[in-house]
Amino acid sequence: MTSVLVVDFGAQYAQLIARRVREAHVYSEIVPSTITADEVRAKSPAAIILSGGPKSVYEVPAPSLDAAIYELGIPILGICYGAQLMALQLGGEVAHTGVGEYGRTQLSRVGPSVLMDEWPDVTTCWMSHGDAIAKAPDGFTVTASSPEAPVAVMEDPSRRLVAVQFHPEVAHTERGQELLANFLHHVAEIPGAWTNTSIIEDQVDAIRAQVGTERVLCALSGGVDSAVAAALVTKAVGKQLTCVFVDTGLMRKNEGEQIEETFTRQFGVELIHVKAQDRFFDALAGVTDPEVKRKIIGELFIREFEAVARELGAGGSGPRFLVQGTLYPDVIESGSGHAANIKSHHNVGGLPEDLSFELVEPLRSLFKDEVRHVGEELGLPSEIVWRQPFPGPGLGVRIVGEVTRERAEILRNADHVVVDEIKKAGLYRELWQSFAVLPAVRTVGVMGDGRTYAYPIIIRAVTSDDAMTADWARLPYEVIEAIANRLIREVEGVNRVALDVTSKPPGTIEWE
Ligand code: XMP
Repeated sequence: MTSVLVVDFGAQYAQLIARRVREAHVYSEIVPSTITADEVRAKSPAAIILSGGPKSVYEVPAPSLDAAIYELGIPILGICYGAQLMALQLGGEVAHTGVGEYGRTQLSRVGPSVLMDEWPDVTTCWMSHGDAIAKAPDGFTVTASSPEAPVAVMEDPSRRLVAVQFHPEVAHTERGQELLANFLHHVAEIPGAWTNTSIIEDQVDAIRAQVGTERVLCALSGGVDSAVAAALVTKAVGKQLTCVFVDTGLMRKNEGEQIEETFTRQFGVELIHVKAQDRFFDALAGVTDPEVKRKIIGELFIREFEAVARELGAGGSGPRFLVQGTLYPDVIESGSGHAANIKSHHNVGGLPEDLSFELVEPLRSLFKDEVRHVGEELGLPSEIVWRQPFPGPGLGVRIVGEVTRERAEILRNADHVVVDEIKKAGLYRELWQSFAVLPAVRTVGVMGDGRTYAYPIIIRAVTSDDAMTADWARLPYEVIEAIANRLIREVEGVNRVALDVTSKPPGTIEWE
């Protein structure tokens, strides 16, 4: 797999660059800025991109780069901080002017350029810098400038080293994606061959090589990642796979049926559907503390899964491999990138040690949106592939107070109404999450001629990029009205509807 290394000088930029490279159909990987020339050589990348970062090159300490990397003959693109570092390390000058540029900035071409081939003389780019390159190193030609960055773009075609002061990876840079593609395809001469089909082929080969003829176990949660991982393993070694779906009673409406339909009927996979609702509701009876609820649900889930695994003879004659839907962002966040630690917030986190499985992680090089596209290509239904994130403890963290069978049923029906109306309005994919919350209070109402004393439902809908921060979604009034009307009409036990207008922070997305 031809790959591009994105050297990370400040996490959020590196991720975005890695994604943009992949959008140009070239596989990319993020590496820390401490990487040495020997380590780079060992990976033999087709190109390197130096990311931006929050620091000034003159700060002490400021991240640097092993200068021997420039001598490897590998094409390099420096971006923002990476551009300044390249200029400084190769003998140019970076000025600590104190006059920076932030936001939309005019970029003027000042010479022929491979990166900006056939661009108009003036375009808009996104800048965010305090320092600026004042003099390009020997061998470089300045090909564009902006009001405060005399060297906004510099290129040395003979060494295939280029650098841009602005951020081509952000959408505000008019032709940013084109610039990245020009670097990859024309400076580094990498063909755009990395597609969903090639991802699937690579992974199918890798899974077959890893598991041979052994049996494989996969816990399906109803979420996108485990479903796509299972679908990939099915394509690779379908007959050797057993999927387990533990119904906790806290799943979304029709989730179990949909999993069963897809994996049993469509894919013909062996699926064990554990109907554990009663055991979960019994364990949760009388419990109101959110953390205690979470713990009970998590532990019981493991026990249920463990029981199935033991029954199948895991560790002995049974399955030796366990499928995990670990994604690339989890891999880079966990640091080393090689630790086989099970995601702590994942449903099957903390399996007992004597159930020793070897992990199969077919998604560990992919971002979420890539996973969705692979899922579509594998024929998973779009309801599964485009499903919004759902917490491991399920509806349990959206039922404030005691979780009972009845209250779970009210919330499941209410959640279905919210999601259904959001989908009808065409907003489902735009929103990070949209769901219903059931509080622990009842309110007085009047319906027909009678007084009611029933639960309110809270509509929670947020926009977000990564769930770290979120904003409450400005849903159109008509959509709110449609949801409210249906909740009162269709969901027994509900007599009032409220809207949560809290962003994160200070709120969290979930209520518990
Ligand atoms: P909060 O509520 O902390 O949630 O803003 C951030 C994101 O994480 C999801 N979430 C969970 N996911 N197990 C999970 O797998 C959990 O216990 C859990 N709690 C919250 C939440 O849905 C949101 O997307």
